[in-house]
Amino acid sequence: MHKVLFVCLGNICRSPSAEGVFTTMVASRNLTDLFHIDSAGTAAYHTGEMADSRMRSHASRRGYDLTSRARQINNSDLEEFDYILCMDKSNLRNVQALSAAHKYSQKIKLMTDYSKVLSYTEVPDPYYGGAQGFELVLDILEDACDGLLHEIIGE
Ligand code: 4NP
Repeated sequence: MHKVLFVCLGNICRSPSAEGVFTTMVASRNLTDLFHIDSAGTAAYHTGEMADSRMRSHASRRGYDLTSRARQINNSDLEEFDYILCMDKSNLRNVQALSAAHKYSQKIKLMTDYSKVLSYTEVPDPYYGGAQGFELVLDILEDACDGLLHEIIGE
C-alpha cells in the first residue's frame, strides 16, 4: 500500500484538488487498491468544510469530484504516510516545524518536485485571486501527479 498525503494551508483548495486529481489518475490505471490517498492543511481554520466552491467548480469541469472535508495535519500523519507533498514552501516549512518532522524529513517534499513538463517551483495559493489561479493549480497538479505516479509505480 502506497500512502500519499497532500498538504496545503487551508485544505480547501490546492490539497483537496491534488487528492482528487491523483485519485482519479490512480483509478484510471486500475491501481486504486494499492493506494491510500488523503489531504490535510497546516492550519485549522476550515476544519470540517467541503473544498472551496470555486475550486470544486473548476475541478468538476475537468472531471474531478472533490469530496474531502478539511482537516489539520498532525504528528501521526508524519508516521503514517510515505509521501507528504506540500503545495508551497511555506507549507513545507510549517510541516517541517511539526515536532516529529525531523525523523521523517526524507518523505516531506514539494509537490512540484514531481513536475514533468511545467517549471513552477510551488503550487500558488489561489484563494484571493481569480479564475485563472484555480486553473493554474489544476494544470500544475495534473502534471506533478503524473510525475508522482511514475515515481511510485516505477514506470
Ligand atoms: P489552500 O487555500 O491552502 O489551497 O486550501 C487557502 C484556503 C484558505 C485560506 C488561504 C489559502 N485562508 O486564508 O483562509
